[in-house]
Amino acid sequence: MINMADSDERKSRILFVDDERNILSSLNRLFFDEDYEIFLAGSGQQGLEILQAHQVEVIISDQRMPGMVGVDFLIRARELQPDAIRIILTGYTDIDSAMRAINEGSIYKFITKPWNDEELKLVVRRAVEFYKLQRANSELLEITQHQNTELAELNETLNQRVKERTKAVFQKNQELKQLNEQLADSFAKVIRMMVNFLEMKSRDLGNHCKRVAASSRYLASEMGLSEEEVSRVEIAALLHDIGKLSMPEKLISKKLNLMTSDELNEWRRHPLLGERALASVENLEEICRIIRHHHENYNGTGFPDGLKGNEIPLASRIITVTDSYDLLINSIYINVSNTRLRAMKALRLNMGIKLDPDVVSKMVQFLHSRKDKKKTRKELELKPFELKENMILSRDLYTTRGVLVFSKDKRLDMGSIKSILDSDRLEKLFTSVYVYT
Ligand SMILES: [Fe+2]
Repeated sequence: MINMADSDERKSRILFVDDERNILSSLNRLFFDEDYEIFLAGSGQQGLEILQAHQVEVIISDQRMPGMVGVDFLIRARELQPDAIRIILTGYTDIDSAMRAINEGSIYKFITKPWNDEELKLVVRRAVEFYKLQRANSELLEITQHQNTELAELNETLNQRVKERTKAVFQKNQELKQLNEQLADSFAKVIRMMVNFLEMKSRDLGNHCKRVAASSRYLASEMGLSEEEVSRVEIAALLHDIGKLSMPEKLISKKLNLMTSDELNEWRRHPLLGERALASVENLEEICRIIRHHHENYNGTGFPDGLKGNEIPLASRIITVTDSYDLLINSIYINVSNTRLRAMKALRLNMGIKLDPDVVSKMVQFLHSRKDKKKTRKELELKPFELKENMILSRDLYTTRGVLVFSKDKRLDMGSIKSILDSDRLEKLFTSVYVYT
């Protein structure tokens, strides 16, 4: 097997093929001083044997030889060493041979005898350079092709990795989404269960908390709080009186102005009891804080900590206003019936004393807008199964047992429609469902 790799370290090789000994001798002499390794062959057959054993750069062959003519020899030489540069040397001007040599033997040069020594040396030198150039080109091509293949493989691997990674990230996201949905669902279930406890303890208390939650949500949204903060305010409002669960029924239903000082002191503990009851539930820390402070007064005279102004969490200040309004208008505890206007007046009188003036302003705006809406907007009476997403309740919705399902102005989503259908199935709704047209 011919070793191609050694050609860079050794002298360039020239093979001369001629049936005339004296020609071979003079060619050998001519190139004796040149920096080549010379091979001499007396026939085509001998030339082929040399080519089988040695890699050469240039082959110069006589055309007219007995047995195998030069062109036939070069055709076979090409099969053995396709890169070698082939040159024909002939004493005859033979067009047919010349054409065959060019077409079939891919001859680099056609030289006639007698040759000019310097010219022949120059031809051989250029042939060697051409060989080296050709070789360097094919090596470069090979390297480029190899690199292209590697690059294509690398791209393919990279694409595959990106695809796998994308798939993995997508799966992880789906899992996280599912987990979040499950968490949100169990969180909502916990809140619903607590509201159920409140309703079981006292229907009035449960309804009061739901109305306060609806108004607080609206006010929080109007005051520019983020959706997350608005939800937090709504949940805190739903649970703001949960501390009353541990109080005797008699105390909860007693009017505030009829309580003894001991009873009042006991009643005043409900924000702390509420905070303590929820402290063990994960993610409710902020809600606990809001509940703790929902009876702080704006001027610092409230309880349990006597905070004032902005020291009181905004969510607590919102609940204090909506809580006060609901107690005034529904007269659950104070045994005095109030109209809407009287209740609004009472809120205004407490601005800066018990209540945050900004929150009261928003509440008053809200109450006016509700009244205006009432005047201008028409209602539609629907059966629960006729409800659709984004409809807004135009009246409070109660069950026949008096449990408030949702307050008016509640925008319905799929979850709330399901709750209404469940309430109708379990307890029956007190009236039809009224929504704004
Ligand atoms: Fe309270």
